[in-house]
Amino acid sequence: MRNILVSGATGFLGQELSNRLMRMGYRVVGLTRTMRDDLIGVPMKGDLLYPDPFVGPELAYDAVMHCAGHHPGETDEVEPLHEEGTRRMVEEAKRLGVKRFIYISAMGAGFHAPTRFQRSKWTAEQIVVHSGLEFTILRPHLMFGPGSRTFRRLEEAANRPLAVLPETKPLIQPVYVGDVAEIAVRSLWLERTIGQTYDLGGPQSLKLEDVVRHMARDIHLFRIVTLRIPRRYAFYLLKKFGRVGPILTGEEWEFLQHEVTRQDSRWLIDYGILPHSLALYYSPLT
Ligand SMILES: NC(=O)c1ccc[n+]([C@@H]2O[C@H](COP(=O)([O-])OP(=O)(O)OC[C@H]3O[C@@H](n4cnc5c(N)ncnc54)[C@H](OP(=O)(O)O)[C@@H]3O)[C@@H](O)[C@H]2O)c1
Repeated sequence: MRNILVSGATGFLGQELSNRLMRMGYRVVGLTRTMRDDLIGVPMKGDLLYPDPFVGPELAYDAVMHCAGHHPGETDEVEPLHEEGTRRMVEEAKRLGVKRFIYISAMGAGFHAPTRFQRSKWTAEQIVVHSGLEFTILRPHLMFGPGSRTFRRLEEAANRPLAVLPETKPLIQPVYVGDVAEIAVRSLWLERTIGQTYDLGGPQSLKLEDVVRHMARDIHLFRIVTLRIPRRYAFYLLKKFGRVGPILTGEEWEFLQHEVTRQDSRWLIDYGILPHSLALYYSPLT
């Protein structure tokens, strides 16, 4: 049996990815901090914030897929998990003699990027790029699909006639979690993807409030009114209460202040995948 070591296998993307791998006959060994009953594949207990986190089966792995990571500003562990955690995954891959390494970064990762989240993803990418491993880096934009915490909150907002949202001018480019998982899986045998970094954005670029309006129209077949919290007041709410409203956390909102949409047609060509649109996903006909 072919074996894949997956970090973040219990997460939103990691579960989708692990299920696909197992359907294809791979054995998934999933790194997790908490051993629970609902774990997919063979669990390996370990915390990437601490040295020597890998306690579990030492198999001949075909690849390491590194999905463990945080969302923008969720905790103060963003830098340690992305940077030190990635270093540990890379070292473990080398120790085990695994050559293929797939890393899940994020769109907008950059040395001069405006947020800690994006800068730490960039540092992690550099660790992977200079590791000597056969890497592929995937940079998804905000992912939607069953199990997304952010989109669940947006769906709840779309459930009511009035949605109160902090003002976000930049566009977002939601990408389907299943497309990202499929791309990660296909990277295993598509040699042309070795040494490449792909920006993964969906086909639509939308304002956040338009996403909520679409959801209301397509899920519930009604129109809603969106009330925008002006930027200045949102900053005040953030400082005073640590949140900017009922839907977005302060960090998510700050992250969405910076537009990072990209059309990278190379992934359509290299992987032969047509991305799902948010509109189709929420369409009453699908
Ligand atoms: N969701 C998005 O829209 C989005 C967009 C762009 C990029 N990304 C990136 O894509 C990746 C997957 O995101 P996701 O939404 O699937 O994340 P998620 O649902 O929040 O899952 C995070 C995963 O990371 C693991 N993890 C967290 N801290 C860890 C630690 N100290 N040691 C070991 N494992 C740890 C968790 O495992 P346990 O709790 O089981 O230990 C969990 O499986 C992340 O790197 C994220 O930054 C996500």
